[in-house]
Amino acid sequence: MLQNTPMLIRGIISTPLPSSLRLTTPTPRPKNVVVSAQTPTSTTPIPTNHSISDQALESRGFVLRRTIDDLNLDDLNTVFVAVGFPKRDPQKIRLALENTDSLLWVEYKKTQRPVAFARATGDGVFNAIIWDVVVDPSFQGIGLGKAVMERLLEDLLSRGICNIALYSEPRVLGFYRPLGFVSDPDGIRGMVYSTKHKKKKK
Ligand SMILES: CC(C)(COP(=O)(O)OP(=O)(O)OC[C@H]1O[C@@H](n2cnc3c(N)ncnc32)[C@H](O)[C@@H]1OP(=O)(O)O)[C@@H](O)C(=O)NCCC(=O)NCCS
Repeated sequence: MLQNTPMLIRGIISTPLPSSLRLTTPTPRPKNVVVSAQTPTSTTPIPTNHSISDQALESRGFVLRRTIDDLNLDDLNTVFVAVGFPKRDPQKIRLALENTDSLLWVEYKKTQRPVAFARATGDGVFNAIIWDVVVDPSFQGIGLGKAVMERLLEDLLSRGICNIALYSEPRVLGFYRPLGFVSDPDGIRGMVYSTKHKKKKK
């Protein structure tokens, strides 16, 4: 799950060349680390060039979706569990998604199942936090994670939201950096009050 370490979106959000279409084996999941984020100016350029176009995704059998209509939450939960997130109550997931400002998921047409997902909550004006960035292990490494993140950022930035935070595991920092996120901007550190961490200390 997204957890500990501060990051900011600052300046140009880059859109590197598309990854080649390849299927990879998932890497082992390390321990989580706290991360948070923020974005500075309302002049941050809005990325308009996607590393993979909607059409290219479609031609490879993937459909981008922006609502929870047709999203099977049990299937989504299966993806969460497959990447090591805790299995969550589908009813709570539904409520969380209903309270989400912006979300994107990718359906694999062949199975009609979700294979990539990301969402953001926030105040709708200044701030947003990105959560639950996941790609099914069987579909990692082919550009789907970047595809959903680019479009989620584009949606938030187009609404003038300039502070966009997320929690990143240390091993995933390299995934977020090319998207424009930086850690500890101006020395700012993320702090988390979490009952999960308190329980762990007992
Ligand atoms: C992290 C995750 C979302 C990336 O999705 P993905 O679809 O595999 O990534 P992409 O194929 O879109 O990769 C985009 C780029 O990021 C790079 N990248 C992907 N994962 C990376 C990582 N862990 N570290 C550094 N770079 C990474 C790719 O090499 C690629 O680079 P390129 O554009 O130069 O070719 C996915 O691996 C995942 O779901 N992991 C498990 C869950 C998780 O850790 N989520 C994040 C919680 S903080």
